[in-house]
Amino acid sequence: YRCKMSVKILMVCLGNICRSPLAHGIAQEYINKNKLDILVDSAGTGSWHIGEAPCENSIKVALLNGVDISKQKARQVKKDDFQKFDLIVALDDNNLKDLKNLGCKNTLKLGDFGYEGACVPDPYYFRDFEEFKNVYSMIETCVIALINKSKEF
Ligand code: 4NP
Repeated sequence: YRCKMSVKILMVCLGNICRSPLAHGIAQEYINKNKLDILVDSAGTGSWHIGEAPCENSIKVALLNGVDISKQKARQVKKDDFQKFDLIVALDDNNLKDLKNLGCKNTLKLGDFGYEGACVPDPYYFRDFEEFKNVYSMIETCVIALINKSKEF
């Protein structure tokens, strides 16, 4: 028989520098704290920011919450990911559509876990740091709900 394997979750946004690094970092922190057998990673559908660290405001809002995402490096999602990961989590509807167009079948939307299917707003044009705090709170709520649910998947 086969051993029970850990669940593998990939968080996906557009640039992999603002939203999915937060989802990744929050999930990793929760996994570590609760000693869960879950692997988490993040990626972007776009290629503009490959190799970059997360954006300053995401690093800052995460640190305010005791989560260090500063060591993350942006990468682009690839078709291998759809085999490797059990759950591909889209942060908004564009990410969901792009993933489906790439042939991803095991994708779901983060906002479906506690935010009635809402999209996580794209922070690229945010002016105010308060908006990052709101995004953090939304992502945190949904990531924890998703992880607790993923034990049943
Ligand atoms: P993210 O935010 O998808 O949350 O990482 C964005 C970052 C960069 C761009 C768009 C969204 N961009 O167009 O470069």
